Amino acid sequence: MPLLKLSNVSQHYQIGDITIKALDNLSFTIEEGEFVAVMGPSGSGKSTFLQVASMLAEPSSGSIMLKDKDVTHYDEKDRAHLRNKEIGFVFQQFNLLAKTSALENVALPLLYAGDSRTSRYQKAKEMLGKVNLSDRIHNAPNQLSGGQQQRVAIARALVNNPSILFADEPTGNLDSKSGADIKDLFKKLHQEGKTIIMVTHEKYISKIAKRLITLKDGRIVSDRKT
Ligand SMILES: Nc1ncnc2c1ncn2[C@@H]1O[C@H](COP(=O)(O)OP(=O)(O)OP(=O)(O)O)[C@@H](O)[C@H]1O
Ligand SMILES: [Mg+2]
Repeated sequence: MPLLKLSNVSQHYQIGDITIKALDNLSFTIEEGEFVAVMGPSGSGKSTFLQVASMLAEPSSGSIMLKDKDVTHYDEKDRAHLRNKEIGFVFQQFNLLAKTSALENVALPLLYAGDSRTSRYQKAKEMLGKVNLSDRIHNAPNQLSGGQQQRVAIARALVNNPSILFADEPTGNLDSKSGADIKDLFKKLHQEGKTIIMVTHEKYISKIAKRLITLKDGRIVSDRKT
C-alpha cells in the first residue's frame, strides 16, 4: 500500500468566465521513505499540488488516499486533525508566529495534539537541537536570521513526527549559504527515513531528491528517478 495516492485529481479555479485548471487530472503515488522534488515553471501548479496533496485544500475532483484512508472529502475539522497528526509543512516565508520564541513556535502543534506542557517543551527542545538551534530557543523570529527562522519552521513541521514532510520552495527566501544549510538538513532528514515532497526552483537543491517530478499546466510531464 502506498503512503499517499492521488488519483485523477483536478483543482479548478473559476474567475469570471475563465476556468483555471491549476491541476488537471493528475495522478501520483509516493511510498514511505521517498524524497521527491517538484519542479516546473511559475504557474504550473506546484503549490496547488502541495496544498491538495497535504490536505490543506479539497480538490475539485479525483481522490486522495493516505495509507488506508480515503481522505478526499474530509471536513475542515477532520482535515485539521489529520494534518496535525500526519503532515508537516514548510513554507517559503517561514510563517512563524512573531513575538513568540522559537521554543513556543515549535511546541505549538503539540498543544493542538493534546500533549502535556512538559512533553511539549521537551519535544520542542529536542527538535530545536536537531536543527542546531539549542542556543537560540528563547529568541523570537525577528532575532533570528532567515536560515535560522527556516530551521525553526522545519523543527515545528517535524515535532509531531509526521508521515510526510512537504516543503514549498524552502530555500526561496534565503541567501545561498543558508540555502545550502537547509538543503543539507533535508538530506539528513531523508537519510533518517523521512518521506519528503519538496518544490524548488533550484537545480542544486532538487539534486538531493531521489525522484524528480516536473509539472506543466497542472499535469505531470515527467516523473523519473534521479
Ligand atoms: N486561489 C486561487 N484562485 C485562482 N487561481 C489560482 C489560485 N491559486 C492558484 N491559482 C492559479 O493556479 C495556477 C497554478 O498556481 P500555483 O500557485 O499552483 O503555481 P506554482 O507552480 O506554484 O507557481 P510559482 O512557481 O509561481 O509558485 C496559476 O495559474 C494560478 O494563477
Ligand atoms: Mg508556488
